[in-house]
Amino acid sequence: MFNVAIFASGTGSNFKVITSHFKNSTDICIKCLICDQPEAKVVEIAKEMNINTFIVECTVYKTKLETQKEYEIVKYLQSHNIDLIVLAGYMRIVKYNLLDAYPQKIINIHPSLLPSFKGLNALKQALDYGVKITGCTVHFIDQFIDQGNIIAQRAVEITDQDDEKSLTIKIHREEHDLYPLVIENIAQKSLTRQNDHNKRILTN
Ligand code: GRF
Repeated sequence: MFNVAIFASGTGSNFKVITSHFKNSTDICIKCLICDQPEAKVVEIAKEMNINTFIVECTVYKTKLETQKEYEIVKYLQSHNIDLIVLAGYMRIVKYNLLDAYPQKIINIHPSLLPSFKGLNALKQALDYGVKITGCTVHFIDQFIDQGNIIAQRAVEITDQDDEKSLTIKIHREEHDLYPLVIENIAQKSLTRQNDHNKRILTN
């Protein structure tokens, strides 16, 4: 089984789509939600979908994960045999404890075609700049913000009629289609490697 933990802070539309996508999977399991906002909509969704939730509130920083809290999260993930961390609207910057424990195993989705419009308010940045095409990017997480290796992207056209609301809908549509596919792809590659490894052990 390939176990996935989803980190989210907000409305959780990606969380919902990913969890529904793998609901009946026999080899990929959405094992838990890690959330820093006890009142977030995503917590309600996790409850409805019977997914374990680990709430880790951070009081010192607004957008950073505190070292001790990050350490607690790592312990929780390790005790649940997590293979992949999926950030889906998680509004805290992941630091060394997590990066060291899960190298190249943390992915994020960002609502722009990276490297354009990094950081907060990516949709507003794209609208203000006047670009005609934006989109979403799935990438690995490293120590820099929105800079890790790109895994997949989808483009979205911006028309003169678009505002933040309509653009959010368009980008979400692409995210919901793309993110489960990327997770599936990473999981299948890892499961195939594991199977090959097990076969080699058996035949040796
Ligand atoms: C998504 O648009 C994603 O690109 C960004 O945060 C948003 C989360 O939306 N990182 P939701 O909570 O999944 O609806």
